[in-house]
Amino acid sequence: MSATASVFIATSLDGFIARVDGSIDWLLQAQATVPAGEDCGYQAFMDTVDGLVMGRKTFEQALDFDPWPYAGKQVVVLSRQGVAVPAALRDSVSISAEAPADLLARLSATGARKLYIDGGQTIQGFLRAGLIDELIITVIPVLLGAGRPLFGPLDADVTLTYVETRAYPFGFVQSHYRRARPSAA
Ligand SMILES: NC(=O)c1ccc[n+]([C@@H]2O[C@H](COP(=O)([O-])OP(=O)(O)OC[C@H]3O[C@@H](n4cnc5c(N)ncnc54)[C@H](OP(=O)(O)O)[C@@H]3O)[C@@H](O)[C@H]2O)c1
Repeated sequence: MSATASVFIATSLDGFIARVDGSIDWLLQAQATVPAGEDCGYQAFMDTVDGLVMGRKTFEQALDFDPWPYAGKQVVVLSRQGVAVPAALRDSVSISAEAPADLLARLSATGARKLYIDGGQTIQGFLRAGLIDELIITVIPVLLGAGRPLFGPLDADVTLTYVETRAYPFGFVQSHYRRARPSAA
């Protein structure tokens, strides 16, 4: 059985996941206003995930977090140019340049059931391949004007089924979508 692929990500109101230079200061500032103990469903989502697939740029940013935020999960970092993995992470982090479908098939064969896909370009690649099953997008009430977009060009429409929206009192709005299943002919 093929693993499913999910996105759980925060964007600015104008659809960016990071500034042009990759910084997420605006997101960290917004998160600092969130009441203690509220994680907008992140840990519950993470508990359902077997492993992560992230782009090299997201990985490089995640390396700045201490402690490593994905302890206990297998992480595949997509990169064509390659990236150094710190010794302490070599048991759980691997590098790949596989196409999304090949990677999903390989990880499914090792028993993965649900993968967390992270990083804008990486998510876009999976979307173009028609492989994203679920999107949970938290919109932060800030306009950045420019930055790294969550979404990009597609070869074909991706039709989604709306699941639910949660509006948090501190201004975050989280919407949940699933890939629409083709109706039986
Ligand atoms: N707002 C949020 O919740 C959130 C979440 C995650 C990340 N971010 C931020 O978003 C930024 C990163 O996103 P991004 O869109 O710039 O990039 P990204 O998807 O994290 O990384 C892009 C890189 O991944 C590699 N890649 C992607 N698909 C590939 C494939 N099929 N095969 C081989 N390599 C592939 C390439 O690496 P090479 O260049 O090495 O070939 C590409 O340059 C960071 O600043 C991060 O902090 C924000």
